[in-house]
Amino acid sequence: MMSVKLDKTIHDRQQFDCGVESLNRYLNRMASQQSQKDNTRTFVLVAEQEPQRIIGYYTLTMTPIDLGALPDKLQKKHLNASSGGLIARLAIDKRYARQGYGEWLLVDALSRLLQASETVAFPVVIVDAKEGAMCFYEKFGFIPFQDSTHKLFLPIADIRASLA
Ligand SMILES: CC(C)(COP(=O)(O)OP(=O)(O)OC[C@H]1O[C@@H](n2cnc3c(N)ncnc32)[C@H](O)[C@@H]1OP(=O)(O)O)[C@@H](O)C(=O)NCCC(=O)NCCS
Repeated sequence: MMSVKLDKTIHDRQQFDCGVESLNRYLNRMASQQSQKDNTRTFVLVAEQEPQRIIGYYTLTMTPIDLGALPDKLQKKHLNASSGGLIARLAIDKRYARQGYGEWLLVDALSRLLQASETVAFPVVIVDAKEGAMCFYEKFGFIPFQDSTHKLFLPIADIRASLA
């Protein structure tokens, strides 16, 4: 399996359906434009035999950290930090759900963010989870922010330790 940067001349965005209309629409209409504008990057997981077919995708960018919503210990440690890496979207086509692709894509996204953080340091990765997906992220160690029902974070130090 491999993830590659979304290329609208190769990847068939129309056929992708994860069951959440806003996530389908983003891939279809926004992801490529937003990458061209250097606002976000979208990576797709493609089938080896059908490189145009999108099994899943994720979108990465940076986001401000609300330090006050982190646990006390992390607030003190990261007092001077302002940004975190953001997994803004992550979705698997319904036809491929519950076969391990979501986990694979999440690890791939975390690896890319960890690599990026070695050049431009940031202390946490944040996800904005759609309803029903909180448990998916909690399974992989993400911790809900104290003040938010949908946002979770994972310290980059923990990601480094578990991917080492
Ligand atoms: C959430 C989503 C990414 C999971 O992808 P997936 O390929 O079905 O998940 P996987 O097969 O890799 O599952 C990995 C583990 O997470 C669990 N899991 C999968 N979806 C879950 C969910 N919604 N809630 C809780 N756990 C979930 C699986 O049971 C599995 O656990 P196990 O190894 O103990 O059996 C996918 O269902 C999806 O795209 N949903 C719609 C879009 C969405 O809500 N995206 C979320 C972020 S915005």
